[in-house]
Amino acid sequence: MREEGLLSAAQATDELDVEIEVGLRPRKLDEFVGQEALKERLSILIEAASVRNESVDHILFSGPPGLGKTSLAAIVAAEMGAAFRSTSGPALDRPGDLAAVITNLEPGDVLFIDEIHRLPRQVEEVMYPAMEDGQLDIVVGKGPAARSIKIDLPRFTLVGATTRVGRVAPPLRDRFGYVARLDYYGPDDLTTIVKRSASLLETTVTTDGCQAIARRSRGTPRIANRLLRRVRDYAAVRADGTVDGATADVALEVFEVDEAGLDKVDRSILGSMISKFGGGPVGLSTLAIAVGEDPETVEDAYEPFLILEGYLQRTPRGRIATERAYRHLGLDMPIERDQGTLL
Ligand SMILES: Nc1ncnc2c1ncn2[C@@H]1O[C@H](COP(=O)(O)OP(=O)(O)O)[C@@H](O)[C@H]1O
Ligand SMILES: [Mg+2]
Repeated sequence: MREEGLLSAAQATDELDVEIEVGLRPRKLDEFVGQEALKERLSILIEAASVRNESVDHILFSGPPGLGKTSLAAIVAAEMGAAFRSTSGPALDRPGDLAAVITNLEPGDVLFIDEIHRLPRQVEEVMYPAMEDGQLDIVVGKGPAARSIKIDLPRFTLVGATTRVGRVAPPLRDRFGYVARLDYYGPDDLTTIVKRSASLLETTVTTDGCQAIARRSRGTPRIANRLLRRVRDYAAVRADGTVDGATADVALEVFEVDEAGLDKVDRSILGSMISKFGGGPVGLSTLAIAVGEDPETVEDAYEPFLILEGYLQRTPRGRIATERAYRHLGLDMPIERDQGTLL
């Protein structure tokens, strides 16, 4: 595993991470911190469906990694008392793969498809009638022996998740009854999340300590939980075990997360833009190669936060580093850029 994976904005990176993440996952809607408007709409959907004794309409969650999409999908199932069946776009390679999953569902089940923007086109087409009419319509066999078969499916709820709502084909997107976007979390919600996780991990924390972690977690609960674990390790071996503000600050410095919450990869993205490409504009794939990440990771996991915080801008000609990026890295922005290239 790459070292920066420990704290990076990317997905859960190793088995232990995944295991701990599962343990910290909120199970019910009222344990899910923040995203109040979304939770309200979701609870209306869920209650209305329960009252009518129907399945919840198909739901699509979008947003950067680590904001709670998978957790919410599982919560929908739990709140409905339904089973949660989970798969992902890339795992459903051929229409037959989807058919196998979908014909195994029991009435009322929640089928979760992660990274749904990566469903192959032919699989997507099988999805449409399944979502709309509860029918599976597939072609079996090849050539003259090929025939189309129709199967009635049990009623089910499809919950899709994507880091790229723009990549979900419009006909697929339109078949979701509710499309919800998750936003980055504010410091108060993140502080609450860190407190909750600390109590589940039986770690002593101070409010200061939780705030220090929250401030540096890029608005992302998954990162907040991961930083908490690192600070907890540090506190256990280098201090008295209590996660307080001072311990958190020192520990996070040791793990190369800076005061703004940027990690090594974030800084490397901004640093490369400035030192190798004169501050930009630079194309996504060129930039990704320069920092040794895939373009998709840079675009989905790193850029949204850097843009939100005003370090980077996307322009039709490529990415550019803003004055804030220069300042953050302790560099002066060249005058000629300052005077107009940005606009
Ligand atoms: N709103 C929230 N409240 C509490 N914990 C959260 C919340 N959102 C995410 N988490 C935590 O962050 C981790 C990652 O969430 P997950 O649902 O896997 O994100 P995503 O699927 O969007 O990448 C979960 O294990 C959970 O502990
Ligand atoms: Mg997920």
